[in-house]
Amino acid sequence: MTSSLAFCVLVLSATTLALDNGLMRMPPMGWLAWERFRCDIDCKNDSKNCISENLFKDMADRLSEDGWRELGYIYVNIDDCWSSMQRDSQGRLQADPDRFPGGIQNLARYMHDRGLKLGIYGDLGTHTCGGYPGTTLDKIETDAKTFAEWGVDMLKLDGCYSNATEQEKGYPLMSQALNATGRPIGYSCSWPAYQGGLPPSINYTVLGQICNLWRNYGDIQDSWDSVLNIVDWFMTNQDVLQPAAGPGRWNDPDMLIIGNFGLSVDQSRSQMALWAIMAAPLFMSTDLRTLSSEARAILQNKAVISINQDPLGIQGRRLLKEKSGIEVFWRPLLQSASALVFFSRRTDMPYRYTTTLASLNYTAGTYKVYDVFSGQVMKNLSDTTAFTVSINPSGVVMWYISPSENETDTFLQSDFHCTLSSVISPYLIHPR
Ligand code: GLA
Repeated sequence: MTSSLAFCVLVLSATTLALDNGLMRMPPMGWLAWERFRCDIDCKNDSKNCISENLFKDMADRLSEDGWRELGYIYVNIDDCWSSMQRDSQGRLQADPDRFPGGIQNLARYMHDRGLKLGIYGDLGTHTCGGYPGTTLDKIETDAKTFAEWGVDMLKLDGCYSNATEQEKGYPLMSQALNATGRPIGYSCSWPAYQGGLPPSINYTVLGQICNLWRNYGDIQDSWDSVLNIVDWFMTNQDVLQPAAGPGRWNDPDMLIIGNFGLSVDQSRSQMALWAIMAAPLFMSTDLRTLSSEARAILQNKAVISINQDPLGIQGRRLLKEKSGIEVFWRPLLQSASALVFFSRRTDMPYRYTTTLASLNYTAGTYKVYDVFSGQVMKNLSDTTAFTVSINPSGVVMWYISPSENETDTFLQSDFHCTLSSVISPYLIHPR
């Protein structure tokens, strides 16, 4: 009796506890094809940019040769339009033979040889959003097995062409099927984005138990309007979303579009800063072969990355929305440190915003401040001392702050980079 009870508890806990794949304890980082390269399948006329194995190999070369991998950008993720229009004779998905002549397994090996990981895209439904074969409920196990056999490391499971009932069944089933393969495969669920992203349709406790990350909201486009629209939705709903995130389970406001055509340098810094505050996955969707030096500097900013990757994994919040159009965001970090972002929605000129740490809820004391984009340091800022930051229109000022007496704080010391790389180089732990 006692032993059968214990057995039941064991089985129950194995199936109901937090997604137990041990993956993505910090927000995943890498590159994802969709926003920049969409469903360009015209390899005849646009061979450099079409969705093909060459595009993913090119990006892998850049990630491994241009310093990205060491910063934590290790996933190279395929999105829609990779597959053939037909499953094979045994009902398995297969890559388009012309655009992926080496097959996905070889592409995965290419990534692993370079200390990178490969992500793939599927869709719970009859078709993918782009009209390619989908994963209906009866195909979940087959597809999970196929991806594992190929050596895939992450799956984005989209939700076009399925209804709420199918999604409620299918997303947990895929989670179980991936776990059952025995291969660690990070699992990104688009489920909430298809059901309004909010309770009661969406239960974030359940999501945290079955997925490593999830798209909550609509697709990002290459414009500042699109970034603002996403930020507004996430902040309006932060009371629901913020507690849902934690190590191994992340809200996903969608890709970084820095380096493309829609954002100014200030707006690019704003996207990077706000994604770091939100503990968002950092998937760049840009052409790493032609990236400008300004965009590269923003995407490779070590301080912002380490704020994003903070091991506590607590998502930040918007603290204030001033009448002036200034908004203040805050995220708690390891060792009593924190990050602050001062964001301007103004459209006139740099705005001089004056406040104190005390009025931003900081406890009494003195603090060290590191401005992550300018590199400026302020050593002894008391909570009651007024300070002024100058924030550009649609730009940010971002601070890393820690108590002055915090001896172990590494940000302002010369070994900062060593500490940082030990935190953000998980690829070193699992070279494949
Ligand atoms: C949906 C997703 C996007 C992308 C496309 C592909 O719109 O939200 O991120 O995957 O499908 O067709």
